[in-house]
Amino acid sequence: MSQTSITHYFDTMDYGPAPESDTDARAWLARHSDGFGHFINGAFTPAAPSTLFDTSEPATGKPLARIAQGTEADVDAAVSAARAAQGKWLAIGGHARARHLYALARMVQRHARLFAVVEALDNGKPIRETRDIDVPLVARHFYHHAGWAQLQEREFADQVPVGVIGQIVPWNFPLLMLAWKIAPALALGNTVVLKPAEFTPLSALLFAELAAQAGLPAGVLNVVTGDGATGAAIVAHPDVNKIAFTGSTDVGRLIREKTAGSGKSLTLELGGKSPFIVFDDADIDAAVEGVVDAIWFNQGQVCCAGARLLVQEGIAQDFYARLKRRMGHLRAGTPLDKTIDIGSLIAPSQHARVKKLVELGIKEGATCFQPDISLPVGGSYFAPTLLTNVHPASTVANEEIFGPVLVSMTFRTHDEAVAIANNSRYGLAASVWSETIGLALAVVPALKAGVVWINSTNLFDAGVGFGGVRESGFGREGGREGCYEYLKPRAWAQRLPRTATATATAAAVSGKSEAADTTSASFALVDRTAKLYVGGKQARSDGEQSLGVFGANGKLAGEVGLGNRKDIRNAVAAAHAAASWSSSTPHRRAQALYYLAENLSARAGEFASRIAGLTGVSNEAAAKEVDQSISRLFAYGAWADKYEGAVHVPPLRGVALAMVEPIGVVGVVCPDESPLLSFVSLLAPLLAMGNRSVIVPSARHALIATDFYQVLETSDLPGGVINIVTGDAATLLATLAAHDDVDALWAFGDAALSATAERLSTGNLKRTLVDYGLATDWSDDIAAEGPAWLRHATQIKNVWVPYGE
Ligand code: NAI
Repeated sequence: MSQTSITHYFDTMDYGPAPESDTDARAWLARHSDGFGHFINGAFTPAAPSTLFDTSEPATGKPLARIAQGTEADVDAAVSAARAAQGKWLAIGGHARARHLYALARMVQRHARLFAVVEALDNGKPIRETRDIDVPLVARHFYHHAGWAQLQEREFADQVPVGVIGQIVPWNFPLLMLAWKIAPALALGNTVVLKPAEFTPLSALLFAELAAQAGLPAGVLNVVTGDGATGAAIVAHPDVNKIAFTGSTDVGRLIREKTAGSGKSLTLELGGKSPFIVFDDADIDAAVEGVVDAIWFNQGQVCCAGARLLVQEGIAQDFYARLKRRMGHLRAGTPLDKTIDIGSLIAPSQHARVKKLVELGIKEGATCFQPDISLPVGGSYFAPTLLTNVHPASTVANEEIFGPVLVSMTFRTHDEAVAIANNSRYGLAASVWSETIGLALAVVPALKAGVVWINSTNLFDAGVGFGGVRESGFGREGGREGCYEYLKPRAWAQRLPRTATATATAAAVSGKSEAADTTSASFALVDRTAKLYVGGKQARSDGEQSLGVFGANGKLAGEVGLGNRKDIRNAVAAAHAAASWSSSTPHRRAQALYYLAENLSARAGEFASRIAGLTGVSNEAAAKEVDQSISRLFAYGAWADKYEGAVHVPPLRGVALAMVEPIGVVGVVCPDESPLLSFVSLLAPLLAMGNRSVIVPSARHALIATDFYQVLETSDLPGGVINIVTGDAATLLATLAAHDDVDALWAFGDAALSATAERLSTGNLKRTLVDYGLATDWSDDIAAEGPAWLRHATQIKNVWVPYGE
């Protein structure tokens, strides 16, 4: 910098450039100038020249490194190394793993500057962000999860690790996403094959190299580079037990389809179009500053970016004026300049996509504002952009732009704010601005989002879960709930495939009611055709067809309605209409469960003879099943007001409330075995947590469920909270799985049902809980009752509440 320029800066009080040195980062790249191999089993594989591709520096477009495109054989080698390492990694115990995680945290801190520079070079984001946000959060993740490793044997004694985890991360936070993925996985005794994004593989390779130097055992962390094809090979590998993915909703959906029925567990952290809601009593200047952090952090390439600004009408013009003034003071520049706010987008292709969407927005009627600030030449710089007069139905109001583009709409009432906020297929995050804490907290439960920031935005911590609902995916990262994504209940891990007798469905469970043998001696025992149970009332099935239900003696025991797609749709509509159940108090739900138990108890004898008659078990065994069912209803009555959230204290002045919420409308397909007990064991946790259900009972034993109507009718449950549709499980499940108003699906039965449930659930990316044809011992309280089920019956919303005057 010349003397004259210093004088100039004194005169203008403007910022001068303050570049961070890239010497060390360039020296590391130079050491690998022949190309990076994959990092497998503790070392780099030789880089085969024919597989290498160039990555470039987003800020300049110049080549940065040569990276290997991972093949199926590379993925296989990495998975083998991870498999071979897993047993030993688990066997060293929680304390030893804690020390390794702690060493990784220290390693990140020791090399913080190198990581920050490599990340800024590779991604194009400002060093101020990599240095002050990404890298410190990465270290914090390893420290926090070192703690979970230490506590694993005490806190997760009933859980086992999932095994070998395939992790696929995007380019927007390459190192931070690596930490979010590998810290919990490794802490809890899993081993990992990670694929960074093809645009940004460098920080993962640097991390793997330094982790090995820090003593991480070979094979525990493997990094395979490449594009989507390499990712697909990880997804398809038969020896991978779980896929954890962050990226676009389209690829997430594809991965759901590809893993359907494979038994691989899955977490998806996908896109968003998060609302940033400003009420008229907000601190406007604070909210304007919030917008800067919401949408111009990382050039808006943030899955939870506050991309939709919703401003209350009365303050909108003032708010826009102040926001535009603030936008004029944003500084765009090269990533290593410590004084800049806005760096480069990841690549020209992303620049072109953002530009096209903005042009489309203008064409659709939006007004575009971009401040008159200078952008560096070269690279993929895009000016901060505000689109106003945006129609809620327009493309830019709905599509994830993934760039520095804010779209804005106004609202009049609180209800309208919530309605516009929820008018999205996504549900990742939301930001709420109001000086009235009661108002802010009141809108929180109504927002469809996994994370809500009150008077703040884009706050993250390793101890606070993060993740979305709807098409933003499922699963949580961070905190205790994030740990469970890398564990499975020991009792479930021990399940065995159902025996042939248990899976056989009655051969004759179809046909019109006329087909029933009304001349046989069994006719005297035949009930009237039992109807469906929808919206609190018995309802005739749409097709007016029925199913015969046969006793263990082979004789017709009765008939039930043969439900069809329309019946499922009616039941889902009734469940939706019963939304108030989800906001009823836990005390109220507990009482409803105790009352159901009491009503069942009053009819214990009838149920026992029905069970004995249909299944052929002894009267004693049947009576025991009824007793256990009563006890299970009591158990969930007990849990209803005891399965609660937590108050986290992240490193800020404030708290984060982990609130347990119901999922919504849940479809359930019940298995044949223990017909009353399995039915009750699936219904009760959903009911206890405030969900509304559409239940398909075992066709073979459907009379047990239809007998249960009387228990429901004499209870005080509002209509629509529990709906029962009898019929063919596979047909009804397919309708439930494809239904966009069903939020989750539980399917228990043969393995094909599980595969269908997972494959067809991709439309709205509903959460699924399936058993892959493995039988649950419903009489075992550990396997069939308790927190594991409650976790699946709920989702956690993390609500950040910073303190302030
Ligand atoms: P992407 O979803 O294609 O890439 C994410 C990761 O998935 C990368 O590592 C990629 O190599 C891998 N991948 C791609 N295809 C795969 C497949 N078939 N099987 C397994 N892995 C696969 O995202 P992309 O193309 O980089 O960005 C496109 C758009 O996605 C962005 O414009 C943005 O809207 C959105 N996006 C959202 C992110 C988020 O965090 N929500 C992150 C990245 C992108």
